[in-house]
Amino acid sequence: MPVERVVFALNGRRYEVAGADPSTRLLEFIRTQTPFKGTKLGCGEGGCGACVVLIAKYNPKTEEVTEFTASSCLTLLYSIHFCSIITTEGLGNTRDGFHAVQKRMSGFHASQCGFCTPGMCMSIFTSLVNADKSKGPKPPKGFSKLKVSEAEKAFSGNLCRCTGYRPIVDACKSFASDVDLEDLGLNIFWKRSDKNPDEIKSSHGHLNVDCIAASREGWYHPRSIKEYYDLINSSLWNDSIKVVVGNTSTGVPGYKDQDLYKNYIDIGGIPELSNIVKRESGIQIGAATTISRTIEILKQECESISSPNGSVVFMKLADHMSKVATPFVRNTASIGGNIILAQRRTFPSDIATILLGAGATVCLQVVAEFVQITLEEFLEQPPLDPTTLLLSIFIPHWVSDNQPETSLLFETYRAAARPLGNAVSYVNCAFLGHSSVDQQSDTLVLSKLRLAFGAYGTEHAIRAKKVEKFLTGKSLTASVVLTAIQLLRETIVPMDGISHREYRVSAAIGFLFSFLSPLAKDIPEPGKALTSGSADSADRDDVRNLPVSSRRETIPNDDYKPVGEPLKKYAVELQTSGEAVYVDDIPAPKNCLFGEFIYSTQALAFVKSIKFKSSLASEKIIDVVSAKDIPSGGENIGSTFTYGDEPLFGDPIAEYAGQALGVVIAETQRYADMAAKQVIIEYDTEDLGPPILTVEEAVEKSSYFEVPPDLYPKEVGDVSKGMSEADDRIPSTEVKLASEYYFYMETQTALAIPDEDNTMVVYSSSQYPELAQSVIARCLGIPFSNVRVITRRVGGGFGGKAFRSFQVATAAALCAYKLRRPVRMFLNRNTDMVMIGGRHPVKANYSVGFKSNGEITALHLELLINAGISPDASPLIPGTIISSVKKYNWGALSFDIKVCKTNNTSKSVMRAPGDTQGSLIADAVIEHVASVLSVDANSIRERNFHTYDSLQLYYPDSAGEASTYSLHSIFNRLISTSSYVDRAESIKQFNISNKWRKRGISCVPGIFRAEQRAAPGRVSVLNDGSIVVEVGGIELGQGLWTKVQQMTAFALGKLWPDGIEGLLERVRILQADTLNLIQGGLTAGSTTSESSCAATLQACNMLIDRLKPVSDKLQQQSKNVSWDTLIAQAIKENINLSASAYSVPGQDSSKYLNYGAGISEVEIDLLTGAITLLRGDLVYDCGKSLNPAVDLGQIEGSFIQGIGFFIYEEYITNSDGLMISNSTWDYKIPSVDIIPKKFNAEILNTGYHKNRVLSSKASGEPAVVLASSVHCALREAIRAARKEFANSNGSGSSPLEFQMDVPAPMTLVKELCGFDIVEKYLRSLSTYERSAEE
Ligand SMILES: Cc1cc2nc3c(=O)[nH]c(=O)nc-3n(C[C@H](O)[C@H](O)[C@H](O)COP(=O)(O)OP(=O)(O)OC[C@H]3O[C@@H](n4cnc5c(N)ncnc54)[C@H](O)[C@@H]3O)c2cc1C
Ligand code: FES
Ligand code: FES
Repeated sequence: MPVERVVFALNGRRYEVAGADPSTRLLEFIRTQTPFKGTKLGCGEGGCGACVVLIAKYNPKTEEVTEFTASSCLTLLYSIHFCSIITTEGLGNTRDGFHAVQKRMSGFHASQCGFCTPGMCMSIFTSLVNADKSKGPKPPKGFSKLKVSEAEKAFSGNLCRCTGYRPIVDACKSFASDVDLEDLGLNIFWKRSDKNPDEIKSSHGHLNVDCIAASREGWYHPRSIKEYYDLINSSLWNDSIKVVVGNTSTGVPGYKDQDLYKNYIDIGGIPELSNIVKRESGIQIGAATTISRTIEILKQECESISSPNGSVVFMKLADHMSKVATPFVRNTASIGGNIILAQRRTFPSDIATILLGAGATVCLQVVAEFVQITLEEFLEQPPLDPTTLLLSIFIPHWVSDNQPETSLLFETYRAAARPLGNAVSYVNCAFLGHSSVDQQSDTLVLSKLRLAFGAYGTEHAIRAKKVEKFLTGKSLTASVVLTAIQLLRETIVPMDGISHREYRVSAAIGFLFSFLSPLAKDIPEPGKALTSGSADSADRDDVRNLPVSSRRETIPNDDYKPVGEPLKKYAVELQTSGEAVYVDDIPAPKNCLFGEFIYSTQALAFVKSIKFKSSLASEKIIDVVSAKDIPSGGENIGSTFTYGDEPLFGDPIAEYAGQALGVVIAETQRYADMAAKQVIIEYDTEDLGPPILTVEEAVEKSSYFEVPPDLYPKEVGDVSKGMSEADDRIPSTEVKLASEYYFYMETQTALAIPDEDNTMVVYSSSQYPELAQSVIARCLGIPFSNVRVITRRVGGGFGGKAFRSFQVATAAALCAYKLRRPVRMFLNRNTDMVMIGGRHPVKANYSVGFKSNGEITALHLELLINAGISPDASPLIPGTIISSVKKYNWGALSFDIKVCKTNNTSKSVMRAPGDTQGSLIADAVIEHVASVLSVDANSIRERNFHTYDSLQLYYPDSAGEASTYSLHSIFNRLISTSSYVDRAESIKQFNISNKWRKRGISCVPGIFRAEQRAAPGRVSVLNDGSIVVEVGGIELGQGLWTKVQQMTAFALGKLWPDGIEGLLERVRILQADTLNLIQGGLTAGSTTSESSCAATLQACNMLIDRLKPVSDKLQQQSKNVSWDTLIAQAIKENINLSASAYSVPGQDSSKYLNYGAGISEVEIDLLTGAITLLRGDLVYDCGKSLNPAVDLGQIEGSFIQGIGFFIYEEYITNSDGLMISNSTWDYKIPSVDIIPKKFNAEILNTGYHKNRVLSSKASGEPAVVLASSVHCALREAIRAARKEFANSNGSGSSPLEFQMDVPAPMTLVKELCGFDIVEKYLRSLSTYERSAEE
């Protein structure tokens, strides 16, 4: 009996849904059709974890409930029939009390902007629930059976752009029964006396209803192969239809849905696809089995096999599979689905490669025929169509040939940008073989080899048969290994167009060498040591498998309580429980429509026409809004700042790839997104000439933005004189820094609602609502007073929601204006990445003169900054770059800086804009000088540190008093507390004794010039004594509201009788509203918290002045005057209980310097280029911190974000300048598995500073610059490698001098170490020489 509905429970409520579009995702349903908004959309492609929910599934046969995480952005609504779904609201909330996970995330300061937090909570919660199902003694109350070593894996794959992960690891570790509480970082959760932390509630309901055949509308769920073919052969097949199991392939590039589907066939219910059959010869796994379940089965099988050899293959397969995707993808992704992806179109599958290596076979149903073939044959077939069903995969048991002297070998490897967290392989392999000893030569001989390689830019995984054949029966020697590698080079030929071709081949060679070299007698010991750390095998002594540990120290500040206390973040529990409201969580008003941009894919071209393909998605288009819809009197403006405007739409010319051309309007966000994909744009480039895409082209055409003279930085001293005094000079050397994308977890979003009398209310996720208001008003041609921009909280900004947010807010407003209906826009992650821009790329050229003792006498810089199409804030960047370069005393410093106008997306401010690039440029010069003089870079740094006198010369407006210059003491403190000298020495030893792994260490100082700006604040006391505060600053996750709340309590505490007990809870901070509190300004530059606190303090003091006389009068009657009595009396006396202030910093106090230093220690694997951050140590001067927990969070988070910029994040554009690394697949921000294994951060309280807000200092940005220490340490490690192999790849005449640009990912590390080092090494072995001579 067909039942046209889907039934499930969501947070304990029963839902029955009929008539939903079958392409609806679970996330979309939860967010738009239920009151629960906690589950967030971060990427829509399974790559970030913001949408993670727990799914509980009841198996009526076994009466068991399985609970697992899933990415609800990929899970189809209809596939959760009879499941129970838990979102973070279901764990706990304001009304029912918060769950232990939520409380610990709050108490450990593990949530900043909060956008990732609900997903984190669900991943951690599910890990605890599943850990507790394992055998073993019951843990004490408040703890779980989870182990410390498993804590960070609990949320691997969940991305967080704010915290740097450390506090999240700590929150999760706090549940582990083997945790040492002393190891946990700063938190307010654990009180030492706390013996009874909250119990971990894990009970929740499930629907234990027997599964019944339920054919939902457009959703077909065949129960047999026959039913499947009946469907395939029916008239249905002519209609738009999709076959699915987990539907995770819709997150995979090349497999993402390009159109909507009307019908789905879910084949997961066909018994043959779910069966697990264990035979003596091997195990048959149904194709619909999830990857997670397959891992479990393989592990169970290992335990049940008596032969030690027999289990090797299964164990390694399971280990390798646990690095595929993320836990929440593996839990729903089927193993068969993976192999089908690998078979149909080029997909860098791990599973196909390792199963090929393991000799798997597959069972297929091809219409009426049942076929069993090898996986190899299957992969080689032409792409399959739905008439073929993959039924199962058979993995044989491999045992040694009953001869005791033969042993079975099996290894798998993968080279990927992240070891655990969601990164497909550049190359992967699996090697199987048998080895035996050749008695005559006493060498090992291999037989029955299977050498499988995949993902290197091949259509599908292949076996290197020539290599297998060559190796079979040969005595393994260095020369045989070398010949095998040469043969492999001929076999592994990446297809055209694939990135990193040489790298992939070289890594594949490294893997084969790893496999063979321990077996070859004449490859000496250091070569054998290579296996540890050279691959991702968990059973090796791999530094990457070490658990993360940390130390966080703050020096408390009791002077202005509660200011200075590490209080938890304001409203943080709401963030953990998903009740915190972001723009997209505001319920859509009646009649709301949704928009998505269409953008140009060409730079500099006339847009001749905009059409749409004929498709289901195109049918959803309600309207297309473009420049012609701008009302008369309005302007085509999408952004502005002091230095110029930027248009909203490219009209009539698209000036750069990624420029908005219009907005597609539809009834849901998904329809709008999908419809925007259908666009066909016709361009015409006639008469336009070529676009300017590079800074070199800009120079050729003198295409620059003007930098006003007062912004152009000041040179110091006489560089020609400095150069003439030098003993040595490095002439004109280049270093390049690429762009960085913001990757805030909440993409750009706005909701525009037309209101009466030609007014508009716009909810915008903006760091600068005041300017958003003016851009919207100018676009619509209405007075500023007709536009109200409201911003409550922002899910991460990092500068990207300053000027870049205006375009989205303005486009939404224009659409709402035209359509007279509310319009919401929540940019698709890929669109956001393509359109929004990012950090400024810089090409630097330096010439430096220095004395033989390391003293630098002169530095000249030539800087080309790529600003993109509009000026935005780019004229400020020369100043910030040079400010950071000035951290050393260069003797004399001169520069020539050009801000280039190019046909690219506009580059804008990003956390420590310019300072970040400047810091690296300065240290690249220092390192270069050190390498020329062959001395430790630190000695050059110290020799060129500023004296206070030179500091004043370099920073005349901000050097402050001599007593505040703390950099020397910070540097020395860091050197001693982190045992730098001893570690540097042991690194030297390590590098001598390890051929294939090298380490490097570097200590980098940072000076960051901060500038306070004017800011408004209003404090009002309501009739019941509760207090509301409004400030200009926006809460972006940086803890601004928390500091403002503390400041209010500190200031009003003077009239609060019981210390400040109970006062904090009475303070509420309100959202920013441009018509309520004007002159809100820009939240950026790290000082907005201070400025907002200063305004709050002033407003509070005004209230105190008004209330004090009332209080004094009351005190004459009674000593203890309660706050409520005071307020009641003040109301009677008509006292104005609302005070507004506009805090304007004094001329001489608005600018000051922040100091900090960071040490990084890294290890590289020369065979793959893999980078492991072994340790990071930071010391940072925070003045008197307003909230040490908040400041530490900012410092750690910015350091990790900096690591992303310097090492991992590759901003890649095509030949038109279009960003093509525009997804979580190609753009890798740091995940928990790549942060330093040991991470120690300390903030110093350097005491009283009369000019600053309660002596505090900024913390939001400066630590980004310290992450350049990772780049420098990496350079040291590479230098050691190049020394070992006398490699002089790259620029520079000696192996020790080379250019290393930013970022420096593993592919570049490998390149700089040498793509050919394995061959070089093997050639160098005397055995080879001898055999070659023979
Ligand atoms: C974020 C992310 C990261 C990933 N990382 C990796 C990685 O590192 N390494 C890796 O190897 N893979 C990776 N994958 C791929 C992942 O393993 C596959 O998406 C998944 O296994 C597909 O299974 P599914 O059940 O979701 O397939 P679906 O999406 O449901 O189906 C995929 C396609 O296969 C067809 N199909 C499925 N099963 C059968 C069958 N039995 N017979 C015939 N046709 C069938 C369907 O018609 C459909 O066209 C990643 C995926 C995501 C989303
Ligand atoms: S939104 Fe689902 S994983 Fe990113
Ligand atoms: S707190 Fe994790 S993304 Fe902001």
